[in-house]
Amino acid sequence: MRQKTLLLIGCGEMGGNLLKGWVTASSSFSFHVITPHQTSVTKIAPHIPWFPTPEAYQAAGLCPDMMLFAVRPQLFQQIAPAYRTLIEKHNPIVGSIIAGLATKALQETLPEIHTCFRAMPNLPVATHEGVVGLMGQHLSDSNRTLIETLFKALGLVVWIKDESCFNDFTALSGCGPGIVYAFFSALLEAAKTLNTGIEDAEAVVKQLLQGSAAYVASHEQPFETLAAQVAVPGGMTEQAIHTLQHNHALTTLLSGTLAAASHHGEKLGKK
Ligand SMILES: NC(=O)c1ccc[n+]([C@@H]2O[C@H](COP(=O)([O-])OP(=O)(O)OC[C@H]3O[C@@H](n4cnc5c(N)ncnc54)[C@H](OP(=O)(O)O)[C@@H]3O)[C@@H](O)[C@H]2O)c1
Repeated sequence: MRQKTLLLIGCGEMGGNLLKGWVTASSSFSFHVITPHQTSVTKIAPHIPWFPTPEAYQAAGLCPDMMLFAVRPQLFQQIAPAYRTLIEKHNPIVGSIIAGLATKALQETLPEIHTCFRAMPNLPVATHEGVVGLMGQHLSDSNRTLIETLFKALGLVVWIKDESCFNDFTALSGCGPGIVYAFFSALLEAAKTLNTGIEDAEAVVKQLLQGSAAYVASHEQPFETLAAQVAVPGGMTEQAIHTLQHNHALTTLLSGTLAAASHHGEKLGKK
């Protein structure tokens, strides 16, 4: 079977991490990238063909099987029209990772699209430990398999049946690593208010994150059970968790955090 080609548009924080994940996973796809600066591609994979514009891509006579928009939401409407000829001519499957951009809006902006999908990856895709949410309307079995094969190289793939859930999913999974890092950053700040007697509290907090994640991976138990294992009755951890969750304070804070992110996704989609 001929190797399928994905054309990635935008190679910043997330596009770059996707590309890093794919090239290090020895994906069965080949990749082309359109992004303004060549260095953002060469620093990840010097062999990947790079083009500064869709016009340069078309002049090279290349034809993608799939395209993936990985630019900022505000930029998409501006740059999309320049891709209409390419899509009309080659009929690729067109996807986007743009937060808030619904498949309907994608198709309204680019009416030449026949098959489209939405993907929501998160940062650890770079090391194949990511989560990718996928959603597509009226996908044939072969297109669904193709899309899934592309993203499976990057970690856990989940299909989202109803697009109205996509912003909530994005709040949890796409924003998730940022929320986790913000939590551990706050823990580090809090650690600095204690007299721990150590110089490098950051190294300890990082190991705490890595060690706890590795422990979760090797023990198939719910978080609650794992927490209870550490929280000996009457002990210090029990006191810590009791303080953290007094009146469900942490759950309430996180519910508000996820709801705010999801609501912002809706607003981005309307711009
Ligand atoms: N960051 C995340 O964790 C995350 C997670 C899930 C989804 N997303 C989504 O991914 C999208 C990109 O986010 P990001 O964080 O990767 O943003 P970013 O770091 O700003 O990356 C945007 C990329 O687009 C490139 N670009 C600028 N003008 C372009 C043009 N005319 N044609 C093609 N590419 C162009 C930029 O190139 P230059 O930098 O060289 O100008 C950059 O490589 C957003 O829509 C976001 O919602 C992000």
